[in-house]
Amino acid sequence: MTESVPAGEPEIVVVADPSAASEAAARRIASALAEAATNRGRADWLTTGGSTPTGIYRRLAVAPLRDAVPWDRVHLWWGDDRFVPRDHPLSNVMPVDQVLLGVAAYSGQSGSGESGIDIATGVRPGAPIPIANVHAMPIAKAIGEGYGPALAAARYDGELRALAATGGLDVASGFPVFDLVLLGLGPDGHLLSVFPGSPIWDAEAWVIDVPAPTHVEPHVARITLHPSVLGVARRILVVAHGAAKAEVLATILGPGRDARRWPAQAARRAGAAWILDAAAAARLAS
Ligand code: 6PG
Repeated sequence: MTESVPAGEPEIVVVADPSAASEAAARRIASALAEAATNRGRADWLTTGGSTPTGIYRRLAVAPLRDAVPWDRVHLWWGDDRFVPRDHPLSNVMPVDQVLLGVAAYSGQSGSGESGIDIATGVRPGAPIPIANVHAMPIAKAIGEGYGPALAAARYDGELRALAATGGLDVASGFPVFDLVLLGLGPDGHLLSVFPGSPIWDAEAWVIDVPAPTHVEPHVARITLHPSVLGVARRILVVAHGAAKAEVLATILGPGRDARRWPAQAARRAGAAWILDAAAAARLAS
């Protein structure tokens, strides 16, 4: 399969600090989801892992942004996840459960009202995405039933293809079209769980299992979407902050292009926005 080659340049938005980056990203996400829900009747959002999304989720979970999105029409998918239980600290689903959806406030632990959004206060916490619209990779199920990442990846692939077959997702150049893809940037220039030099580009599948990387943490097996989904996504948002990302960003947004060597360049395209804080943007050519 030929990968879709990214073309054009993204919008680069530089803001003061991580908090401003989360704020800017959350606003754009709210607006992209509302727009897709209006245009298509549903909004399919492929989200990311790592530490970056937590501040973004926190803003989407409360007014005013919480009230700006028709959450019942939002479908949440994961671009990648680690092969750990859903409530494990390394899970890419856990921040969604805890921060975006605020599920703890609905649980048997609820009742103290400590957080101010606790259900006991009468205020429904979190973004009200129907549980049937939260499409976590079936990793908890795989662990519970004793099968591995390859079968879990195949099942997620099947879920996406079944939706595409009934018209819920468009397919372009052989890949599913998400309304919005949120991405973080790895210190080695990876995104999704597509690492430099990964053979995944040649895969036919939409969803692929990835052996535990040894060069970046955490050293756990992953499941990832094919990076070619980035070539066909309606909108892409890359968010990165901190000085540790400055050097790799200078390379990724620099003169050369080779997405197999620098996977994050798959998101370097027209129609994408990269939201960086000043520390991360410090080495970019002005
Ligand atoms: C994962 C990812 C990965 C992540 C980046 C950035 O490892 O599961 O989804 O691509 O987004 O490594 O991580 P931080 O947000 O922690 O910097």
